Amino acid sequence: MSARFEQFSWVPLSSLRSPRTPAATASRGKGVSIKTAEEIARMRVAGRLAAQVLEMIGGYVRPGTTTGELDRICHDFIVDEQRAIPAPLNYKGFPKSICTSVNHQVCHGIPGNKRLKKGDILNIDITVIKDGYHGDTSKMFFVGEPSILARRLAKTTQEAMCTGIAQVKPGANLSDIGHAIQQFAEGKRYSVVQEYCGHGIGHNFHEEPQVLHYGKPGEGIILVPGMCFTVEPMVNAGKRHIKLLPDGWTVVTKDRSLSAQWEHTVLVTQDGHEILTLRSEEREQAFTP
Ligand code: MF3
Ligand code: CO
Ligand code: CO
Repeated sequence: MSARFEQFSWVPLSSLRSPRTPAATASRGKGVSIKTAEEIARMRVAGRLAAQVLEMIGGYVRPGTTTGELDRICHDFIVDEQRAIPAPLNYKGFPKSICTSVNHQVCHGIPGNKRLKKGDILNIDITVIKDGYHGDTSKMFFVGEPSILARRLAKTTQEAMCTGIAQVKPGANLSDIGHAIQQFAEGKRYSVVQEYCGHGIGHNFHEEPQVLHYGKPGEGIILVPGMCFTVEPMVNAGKRHIKLLPDGWTVVTKDRSLSAQWEHTVLVTQDGHEILTLRSEEREQAFTP
């Protein structure tokens, strides 16, 4: 996710792009790109690769492993096997290839020497670039058996993400997503982080629009086929407030309560949406909240 009020740099239309429909032109006026068929094909590939990294790393998440080791394994898999690029590495100075956010860390945790221990929960956030296009996805992992609270928080956050994604279809308002997420999470007595949000994605890691995870329904841009963005709510067991650690990246809950996050990259289609980063474990289960 990106800092909410950060300005996105808009990049000139690439040579891949073709003539646009009136709806596409209207959206482009607001800086939201509508992907061409060729771009969508590349987004599908990038999304699948990012999902496959999450599938691959699960078996390595166990007590005694460091987050730095998880970073190295993902880096080598992305570079050597997928022939892709780990987008976080050197992105605005980020020093590693993945983000690992443990327990009360909300997002953007930097992998390091700390060993995982039984009962920890962590988010692993993967973004790969393949053929110039990005796939961005994250999920929660448990180290050994989690507490009942931790398991419930992770599950609720995943369901909140799914409820948000379920709003995505042509004609819907962008803010319908965040409204659904906030209603769901707060209905379970959790809080939603407001300072970081989902984002348009494509040739750029972070593009317009900003996808808030809270707010009123019926506001913001109208969704149009060909838009691509992430939905990535961060939900806290305690209060919503956060602080940034002195490393300049790691975001933690102010009250040190547990935090969870899940993320998918989503494409708006003619009749709804397609989740570009769906994992096989999700394909097998009915993917509705
Ligand atoms: N993957 C994060 C997101 O979902 C962004 C991480 S930026 C980094 O948008 F620099 F911290 F890697
Ligand atoms: Co993201
Ligand atoms: Co991400």
